[in-house]
Amino acid sequence: MKNTQIAFIGAGNMTNALISGLLRAGLSGEMIMASNPSLPKLTALSHLGVRTTQDNREAAAFGEVVVLAVKPQIMAQACQGLSALDFADKLVISIAAGMPISRLKQLLPTAQAIVRAMPNTPALVQAGMTGLFANAHCNALQKQLAQELFEAVGRVCWLAREEEINAVTAGSGSSPAYFFYVLEAMQTALLHMGLDEAQARTLIEQAIAGSAQMVIGNPQLSLSELRAQVTSKGGTTAAAIAQFEKCGLADIIEQGMAQAAARAREMEQQL
Ligand SMILES: NC(=O)c1ccc[n+]([C@@H]2O[C@H](COP(=O)([O-])OP(=O)(O)OC[C@H]3O[C@@H](n4cnc5c(N)ncnc54)[C@H](OP(=O)(O)O)[C@@H]3O)[C@@H](O)[C@H]2O)c1
Repeated sequence: MKNTQIAFIGAGNMTNALISGLLRAGLSGEMIMASNPSLPKLTALSHLGVRTTQDNREAAAFGEVVVLAVKPQIMAQACQGLSALDFADKLVISIAAGMPISRLKQLLPTAQAIVRAMPNTPALVQAGMTGLFANAHCNALQKQLAQELFEAVGRVCWLAREEEINAVTAGSGSSPAYFFYVLEAMQTALLHMGLDEAQARTLIEQAIAGSAQMVIGNPQLSLSELRAQVTSKGGTTAAAIAQFEKCGLADIIEQGMAQAAARAREMEQQL
């Protein structure tokens, strides 16, 4: 990785997170180039020692790995200026949500090795989860490069089939918002019980941080075992869980996630 030149097309939030991770991991800014139409984002990156340009072609020509990090609806426009370049020896990585590899092949006809990545927002705080799918042209070294790139901002999971990326979207891509939604509901419940907003937020923040640590720190325990350990028979937690089950909460969550995956499939058809 340290000897590989990496280009980012689009210098927005996700590119910033990835570049920060790469620099922290010891990559030299000299090995990274980012392109973006507007200057302020590039200026911030150049202060970190990263090469910058407003010309996507210059960045793509520089990169042995070219990360396409523009919004999906901009991708066709961004790739237009690149289609004359030869991508045959480059690894192309797209992080655009809902953009299938078949569509990327149309936009960059010479591209061979393509990785489709689905990161999530916690990548911005180096706690991301990225699903990765590599097409059949990717060799072991290229897969390793893609893995190291996203491990700079969290954990990665390889997928055997491209359509599984929609499950990643439902599972980790969209899920920070599910947790925020549950936390919001819990905060409202605590306000109704008489706590103030700051107290409620502190309780919830620490509870979710502690629960996450218990899940991550105990891989030998299933999630239901972890739950059973804090649910005494006839106790307060059992009363809450019984009410959740009576309301069909697990079904509601499954239905919501199915909707997220369905929407991801629908978006793939539209790009
Ligand atoms: N953020 C997430 O949590 C997340 C999660 C999963 C996937 N993604 C995917 O990651 C991609 C980037 O998301 P983001 O959140 O980083 O978006 P973002 O902050 O809006 O960044 C996109 C960047 O692309 C630039 N841009 C616009 N037109 C361009 C062009 N023709 N050529 C080159 N660059 C161009 C924009 O520049 P200007 O602002 O100057 O126009 C902007 O800096 C999207 O495809 C998104 O689906 C993001």
